[in-house]
Amino acid sequence: MRKTLIAANWKMHLLPVGARALVAGIREAIDPVAATLAKDREVMVAPPAILIPAVAQALAGSSMLLGAQNMHYEDKGAFTGEVAPPMLQAYGVTHVIVGHSERRHIFHETDELINKKVIAALQHRMTPILCVGETQDEHDGGRALDVVLRQLQRGLENVGDEHVPSVAIAYEPVWAIGTGRTATPEQAESIHGAIRGAILERYGRGRADAVRIIYGGSVNDENVDSLVSKPDIDGALVGGASLKADSFARIVRARTC
Ligand code: 13P
Repeated sequence: MRKTLIAANWKMHLLPVGARALVAGIREAIDPVAATLAKDREVMVAPPAILIPAVAQALAGSSMLLGAQNMHYEDKGAFTGEVAPPMLQAYGVTHVIVGHSERRHIFHETDELINKKVIAALQHRMTPILCVGETQDEHDGGRALDVVLRQLQRGLENVGDEHVPSVAIAYEPVWAIGTGRTATPEQAESIHGAIRGAILERYGRGRADAVRIIYGGSVNDENVDSLVSKPDIDGALVGGASLKADSFARIVRARTC
């Protein structure tokens, strides 16, 4: 059985005081039910890099996992402004978001660079959350599936077959991010099904059944149940609605079937 993954992407929000308060608020709501939640889901928060130490402290003793929003693929070196995988590991980071559409579009990250980051995360035993998704234009032009499957294939290039189940895929249609226009559960399910189909074809049934494919793009406490109850939607990557403790705590408790 695939564990549902509910992941918070705080993007470039919050200061240390607010970050600690947010974690405390989420914990107050979900710590009492942590044992039940842990049976079938993982919960992760990805703060801005500089807040990782503060959030790591605030998470002490919690079952919630710590993620990063980005990282460099080298362990060290002359890469001003970058954060290396071992630095993240030193603070207990277990998941790293890779190839988010904001990184692709604002910071011009290529599939090739993203692929290096996926491989680096796996080498450091972190779960890469490989983001794929089409823009509004690509969506309108009927090219969504082409774009998503190409990003998937390039993102997984040279990843050993046996490591593919350790990658989480996040389908985030760019037109749904921060817009309040969520993909319908049926729209998302059809892309998720195609992603799983492509993985099945290339890597076989066992790996396709094991890999998690989560949805992101205007997920909130009202639409999360209908999304994650679809068979191929294994969780959510949540932006705006993860910045409020009560709404994220509700999303964490999503009904998955
Ligand atoms: P929103 O939930 O704010 O639409 O952001 C989605 C996202 O980009 C998560 O990575």
